[in-house]
Amino acid sequence: MNKFLSLGVLLLAVALARAEIPALYAGADLALGARLIAEHKCAACHQQKVGGDGSAIFRPAGRINTPGLLRGMVEQCNTELNLALFPEEVTSIAAVLNRDYYRFK
Ligand code: HEC
Repeated sequence: MNKFLSLGVLLLAVALARAEIPALYAGADLALGARLIAEHKCAACHQQKVGGDGSAIFRPAGRINTPGLLRGMVEQCNTELNLALFPEEVTSIAAVLNRDYYRFK
């Protein structure tokens, strides 16, 4: 009985966590996204532009104001910087930026 109860609580927690993720980013590999952001030194360049830790470049209230536009922006960086990222890698990066900065639902 107790096992079923904890399973229920777990499923509820998963469902709630899922609700925070836009459909476009469903199933995104967040660990992969975080690793790619570090590997490609995204922050180093942003820091030169805005100072601090570079995260001030991410402006949820700015022109990037939907999950689709955020993913598109990451895709644009991918192309411009010749990163040769796979589509699912672009999505995972966008999902991490969304979790940490943009918080689109
Ligand atoms: C060579 C420098 C450089 C690198 C490397 C770089 N960026 Fe950027 N990024 C910029 C600049 C400059 C802007 C601001 C563009 C503007 O405001 O028009 C920007 C803006 C952005 C934005 C939009 C911010 C907003 O809310 O308007 C996102 C998202 C972004 N970068 C993601 C990334 C990711 C992810 C990476 C690594 C894969 C990356 N960038 C690597 C220079 C860089």
